[in-house]
Amino acid sequence: MEYIAKTAALDKETANCVIVGLFKPRQLSPSARKLDTLYRGKLTRACQRGHAKATLGQATTLHNSSRSKHEHIVIVGCGEAERFTTHAFHKALSAGIQEAKKCNAANVINSLVELPVKDTDLPTRVQISVMAGEAAAYRYTHTLPKAGKDRSPLKKMKFLASQASELDSLRQGRKFGKAIASGMAFAKDLGNLPGNLCTPTYLAEQARALKKEHPKLQVRVIEEAQMKKLGMGALLSVSSGSAQPAKLVTLEYRGGAPDARPSVLVGKGITFDTGGISLKPGNAMDEMKFDMCGAASVLGTIKACCELEIPMNVVGVVACAENMPGGRASRPGDVVTTMSGQTVEILNTDAEGRLVLCDALTYVEKFDPETVIDIATLTGACVVALGNVPSGLMCNDEPLVEDLYKAGDVSGDRTWRLPLWEDYQSQLDSNFADMANIGGRWAGTITAACFLSRFTEKYRWAHLDIAGIAWHSSGKQKGATGRPVPLLSQYLISQAYPQEH
Ligand code: BES
Ligand code: MN
Ligand code: ZN
Repeated sequence: MEYIAKTAALDKETANCVIVGLFKPRQLSPSARKLDTLYRGKLTRACQRGHAKATLGQATTLHNSSRSKHEHIVIVGCGEAERFTTHAFHKALSAGIQEAKKCNAANVINSLVELPVKDTDLPTRVQISVMAGEAAAYRYTHTLPKAGKDRSPLKKMKFLASQASELDSLRQGRKFGKAIASGMAFAKDLGNLPGNLCTPTYLAEQARALKKEHPKLQVRVIEEAQMKKLGMGALLSVSSGSAQPAKLVTLEYRGGAPDARPSVLVGKGITFDTGGISLKPGNAMDEMKFDMCGAASVLGTIKACCELEIPMNVVGVVACAENMPGGRASRPGDVVTTMSGQTVEILNTDAEGRLVLCDALTYVEKFDPETVIDIATLTGACVVALGNVPSGLMCNDEPLVEDLYKAGDVSGDRTWRLPLWEDYQSQLDSNFADMANIGGRWAGTITAACFLSRFTEKYRWAHLDIAGIAWHSSGKQKGATGRPVPLLSQYLISQAYPQEH
């Protein structure tokens, strides 16, 4: 979609559709009032008849004649003005865009960005709008060669500035929104690709392709022979049952001072998780192609950083392997030595994410990181605890929790903390190694993080369990969400431009 920022008056500007707001009780937004005057009370009447609702996220369309300047008017319920938070804005916006899509509108004026939102400025409102527009227009086509007929009708979204001084804000928001949306689309494409095409080798190639477009990026691919030399026994134990070799890929984006410590992102890249010898049940196993969505979110966020030319140093690391039950696969009871020197008893080969991550987390010490965030579809227990709303957050640093909460609120891609208390550590006790790779039935999300915490003591670290939010499981919506690219990008933006965001 194309996003246009211009100074123009709403009554002079043509569009297939204008999106306006309605607050409780029957309070039209400024642009809605303008249209109400222009169309002789049409919006007021729709409210009085109860046709247009002010309930947050409810959208209603009024139709004008096709010769009129504005063929459709989408009125979006925004709830109570005092409670119009960033979260509410996200909801209103996606409802408005969905409705505009239903009207088959190609050319949309989005006037919702004029609405005052608590703690959110104009550039951010535009950024959120562009992200929502791109999300609505996204289509997976990679293995659907004949797709394209049912392309999204949306072509242009216009933001109207009342004064020229607003234009800079609109353009800045647009730039941020486009970059993050592009990272999200990349993450969705990678997530949606099936396991036979999206292999560890494919992910490494995608990283290399990214480097071709962006000179500030350096990409290295560590092969299995090198992993062996580095002592990455845990990572190698996962790929050993597969015909696909593991790849550890590093992407270094240098946009800051040469000596500035980087923010490091580490992604779980299991391109397919059968469970290994601890084989998963067959039901919905196809969804385990999404087990590389942590890695996809790292690649997507690095892409966003490149497109933004963000003025800081960021390192992305993706630990890629396929978890298969081949003849060389790990057995339950096997003991492996990690790069850190600690030994692990593999009691369940389906707890493979933590095995690839622990070696990657030791490896990133060499970057002398400012912070490390790992992102992983790590536990089914996280879906039980938090559902499909936030990602699970476990962290050894309070300011980092605050920063991630704030980035979650602004981006609409929220996270929620679970405790990482010492009390849980003993669940990993083993008689045969420094630790077991599973912690029993209870608090599975936390014991997985406890496992990782033993490899992250040297830096400020956060773990995001994205098992519940990385993809939609069923129906027309089935597919990768592109999350948490918005959260990670917003976090990095807040670090790069501390006074503004
Ligand atoms: N990739 C899965 C986690 C998962 C399962 C995410 C279902 C989303 C939906 C992970 O590798 C896994 O299998 N975890 C096990 C851990 C257990 C063996 C301790 C789980 O959650 O069952
Ligand atoms: Mn598994
Ligand atoms: Zn897995």
